[in-house]
Order: sequence, then structure tokens, then C-alpha cells
Amino acid sequence: MSEEKPRQFVGKAEFKKGLEGAITNESSISYVDGVNGKLIYRGYSIDDLCAGGGGYEETAYLLLNGSLPKKAELDTFKADLAARRSIPDDVKNVINHSAKLGHPMSTLRTAVSMLGSLNPKEFEVTVENNYDIALSLTAQIPTIVAATQRARKDEPILDPDPSIGLSEDFLRMMTGEMPEARTAEVMDMALIMHAEHGMNASTFSAMVTNSSLTDLYSSIIAGIGSLKGPLHGGANEMTLRTFMEIGDPDSTDQWFADAKAKKIKVMGFGHRVYKAYDPRAVLFDPIAKEFSERAGTGNLYEISKKLEALVVADLGGRGIFPNVDFFSGIIYNAMGIDTDMFTPIFAVARISGWTARILEYLPDNRLFRPRAVYIGDLESSYTPIEDR
Ligand SMILES: CC(C)(COP(=O)(O)OP(=O)(O)OC[C@H]1O[C@@H](n2cnc3c(N)ncnc32)[C@H](O)[C@@H]1OP(=O)(O)O)[C@@H](O)C(=O)NCCC(=O)NCCS
Repeated sequence: MSEEKPRQFVGKAEFKKGLEGAITNESSISYVDGVNGKLIYRGYSIDDLCAGGGGYEETAYLLLNGSLPKKAELDTFKADLAARRSIPDDVKNVINHSAKLGHPMSTLRTAVSMLGSLNPKEFEVTVENNYDIALSLTAQIPTIVAATQRARKDEPILDPDPSIGLSEDFLRMMTGEMPEARTAEVMDMALIMHAEHGMNASTFSAMVTNSSLTDLYSSIIAGIGSLKGPLHGGANEMTLRTFMEIGDPDSTDQWFADAKAKKIKVMGFGHRVYKAYDPRAVLFDPIAKEFSERAGTGNLYEISKKLEALVVADLGGRGIFPNVDFFSGIIYNAMGIDTDMFTPIFAVARISGWTARILEYLPDNRLFRPRAVYIGDLESSYTPIEDR
């Protein structure tokens, strides 16, 4: 018997799947208090930011620059973003070409790639240049998402109107009509709530990519790719599809019993960090009621409340409660937005969090490079192909 050779890590390393509990870096951008169900951006609770009236642009400024803007600073920031909203014709062509081919998140990924190719300073990796790109992407991603919604319906892509706010213009470019004030206000809240959320999968993906000092567009594309998945940003779409599949509030008990028997995860529930109610679900709940009643889709809200009661009674003791994606789809649906546009709306908001985190890490950048525990063979003897 050959003597056993030492293997690195084998049998010794302690780790948790999915990097649970692993710490990547220090950050002062946001804090997810999973025990008490609170979300804090740079010291301010999302409840205060939503109620404050400064809109999504105020939150984007806060995340990117570290403090709340004074009035003149916010006015300048808003004007700067508004001036950056339009997208080049080459990007419109990409959108027109790809919007009907696949998921709108795929179109977004491709359109951001095109924006990168069109920027002569794509590869200038400095804090100043990345900040400049961050502002442009924060302004342009809403235009891309709105354009995608239009293109897939053979409607002409609308140019931005810099005289109105980002949320209002986003809805206008998507639907072709000026939104009601309350609708724009709720979209603003939704963008504030989705803007940032600690070291989640898409933020981590974007940061890992950026840590090789590649261009910011590539890093954001990595974030978009990760956000698209059903365990992350894609859950809002899946949640609404669940409510529609249940169809009738009276069918909810049976649906949940079947889901349990099949060990299916119920979309819109559970979270790696929150073991209490996600504060964003708490904020969205009454708005989902208001908007669904107004739109005549109250049955979806009724189903959601029945499902919430069933899942919380069954799994609440294990820290499984509704997350941000549970009610958001009901609201977007009541606004008349297509179901597969929900995750792109998430990206419209999250771009500020992704870029804020990347900019924070860049000055003292170190390549992310974890390891895996190798459990394979070390001494297999090679057999020529003709002898296998
Ligand atoms: C968000 C999520 C990926 C977090 O996952 P995680 O921390 O890796 O937790 P796990 O998937 O390992 O789940 C832990 C346990 O809780 C259960 N669980 C977690 N979320 C659940 C859900 N939504 N429905 C039913 N059971 C769930 C798992 O089945 C698992 O049970 P087990 O220990 O008996 O196998 C997970 O809760 C999930 O898949 N939720 C549904 C998708 C979703 O809404 N995502 C949006 C998040 S904002």
C-alpha cells in the first residue's frame, strides 16, 4: 500500500456551502439587520429614505457619495443624471434586434456590453472614470429597460425627457404615457428599496469580476447575469407566476400542500440574511393591497396573504418569511408592467448599489480568489486513449 501523501485542506478545512457567513471586506454602504428586519443605507433606514421625498436620485447620491446631498447638490446630481439618460443609436439597434429573441435581462446584458464597446474610455480603470461610468449607467439602464419593453411590442423607442425625474421618465418611456403621480411615487420607493443590499449574489459577482481590474461594464454585466437567476432577482417574476398558477384564493391551501409534498421552495420566501420579515416586504404589503384593489387584481393580493399565512405558520419558526420579491410583482402587475420586466426593474435600482460597492473597494483593491476543498484523486495513472 502506498504511503498516504498530505493533501491541502482535505479533511481539515471548515466551510459553509454558498460562502454562508464568509466576510469579504469592510464596507460602510449598507447594513442588513437580519435579526430585527432592518435595512440601513449609510446609516439611514430605508423607511426614512422612502418617506423623505428625495426620491431614488437622493438614494443613488447617498450610496455613491457617502452622505445625503444638500438641495443644490441633489439638483445638480439630478440634472447630471437626466442629461445622461439617452442611449446611442447602436444600443437602440441592439435592443430592437434582441428584445423579441429572449428574456429582457438578456437584452439588458447585451445592451450594457454595447455601451462598453462604444465608450473609448472603457478600459480606463480609475475611481474618477468608474464614477463617471456609474452615473451614466444609473441614468441609461432605465432607458434601456423601457426601450426593451417598447421594442418587444413593435412600439418605437422613446427618447428621455430630462425635465422630469428618473422614475417618472422610466415609466413614461416604458408605457408611452405620463404616469400618475402616485404610480411614479411608488416606483421611486421600489427603486429606493431595491438599490442596495449588502454582499448579495449579484453584488458579489460584480465585485469579484471588478477585482481583476477589468472594465466596469464587464463587472455590471456579471451582476446582471447573477441577478437574473430565480434564487435572486428572478424570484419576483416567479412569485407572481405562482399567484397566477394558484389562480383562486380558495385553491391556496391545496397548492401549498402540493408544494410541500413535492418539496418545492415557495418563491418570495426565505433569505440568507433575514430570519425575520424583510423590511421591504413590510413596506410593499399595503401598497400591493392599494394597487391591486385599484387595478381590479385584488384576488392576487388575497392569494398572497393566504399563502403568507400558510408559509409563515409552517416555516416562520425556521426564519422563513416573505422577502422583497413577495409583494413587488403584484404592484408592478397592477401598474400594467409585463411579468418578465420585473427583474430588469430590479436592475434599474441595483445599479447604484453595485457601482457604489465597486467604487468603495477599488482604491484598496485586492483580487478575490477563494479556494475549494479538493476531494478528487491525486495519483491517477494516465491510460492512453486506445487502452481505456
Ligand atoms: C433566498 C434563498 C435562496 C436563501 O437560501 P439559503 O440561505 O441558501 O437557504 P437554503 O436554500 O439552504 O434553505 C434552508 C432551508 O430552508 C428551506 N427554505 C428556504 N427557502 C424556502 C422557501 N422559499 N420555501 C420553502 N422552503 C424554503 C430549504 O428548503 C431548506 O430546508 P432544509 O434545511 O430542510 O433542506 C432561499 O430562501 C430561496 O430559495 N427562496 C426562494 C427564492 C427567493 O424568493 N429568492 C429571493 C431572495 S430575496
